[in-house]
Amino acid sequence: MNQSKVLVTRELFEESIDMLKQYAKVEVYQSANKPIPNEILIDKIKEVDGIITLLTDKINEEIMDLAPKLKVISNYAVGYDNIDVSAATQRGIIVTNTPGILTETTADLTFGLLIALSRRIAEGDRFVRNREWVNAWGPKMFIGSDVHGKTLGIVGLGRIGTEVARRAKGFDMDIVYYDTYRDVEKEEKMNITYAPFSELITKSDFITLHVPLTDQTRHLISKEQFKKMKTTAYIINTSRGPVIDQQALHNALVKGNIAGAALDVFEEEPINHNSPLLELENVLLTPHIGSASVETRKKMSKTAAKNVIAVLKGEKPPNLVNPEVLE
Ligand code: DGY
Repeated sequence: MNQSKVLVTRELFEESIDMLKQYAKVEVYQSANKPIPNEILIDKIKEVDGIITLLTDKINEEIMDLAPKLKVISNYAVGYDNIDVSAATQRGIIVTNTPGILTETTADLTFGLLIALSRRIAEGDRFVRNREWVNAWGPKMFIGSDVHGKTLGIVGLGRIGTEVARRAKGFDMDIVYYDTYRDVEKEEKMNITYAPFSELITKSDFITLHVPLTDQTRHLISKEQFKKMKTTAYIINTSRGPVIDQQALHNALVKGNIAGAALDVFEEEPINHNSPLLELENVLLTPHIGSASVETRKKMSKTAAKNVIAVLKGEKPPNLVNPEVLE
């Protein structure tokens, strides 16, 4: 029997590789946590029936055209802006993702960043560690902003945005949201308010972004929006870096148009080591760790494997991104 071949572009949890091995010959690109180099991907993809990719792997037309046997691209992420989905559909290749699983973990991080930013937790930690704490307690030392009682603007009330709203409720925040789809039932159930985008931008004390990266959301937050924000506003991004125009953000922070920003995602990842954002105290930066809990990453591994296995078995995968491909 001709055994299927699957390429996994980064080391995943062993149990998911074992699951895959029951259905296919599996090759895992072993690296010191570095993306698979393009030349290796180009070479390996020629042979495979399935591939598990990460958001660091750009799977475009050129790559797909080298893969005559490829049936499934299983992305180890909920976002799939690293894959040219319409090119995959045209070629009859199934694309899958890992939705649902990382919702709460990402909402937890978002809320953690929101609190850490406004209460200056990372800044305080640096201050203590750097042995700069030489004067005792003072009334104006490291004062930040309250979280409770403030207005939180959620851009994108999908799964993660909704979970952030639930957390914010526990902190007595007023919640406004903007989405292209207005969900009146959810508004009533959660006691949250819809606001047009420009209104959300002007009235929020905290703005948090939960939209996928598309042509419409690229640089959704740019110079014009920063100018309209409160000078005391904070922005948090755990979605995709290019949703914020990073240069405009830097200008806004330097000019005092807004109070601070917490970013887990960047226009360029890893962030350029010369980025001027690294010099600012009112910026909190984490290395794209929204879904990075052991529990969630294990579930993501299993889901990515299950999606591949379903396709290899000729079944509809649980998390199909391009259902048109099966029509
Ligand atoms: C996703 O799943 O899209 C995340 O960004 C990866 O953690």
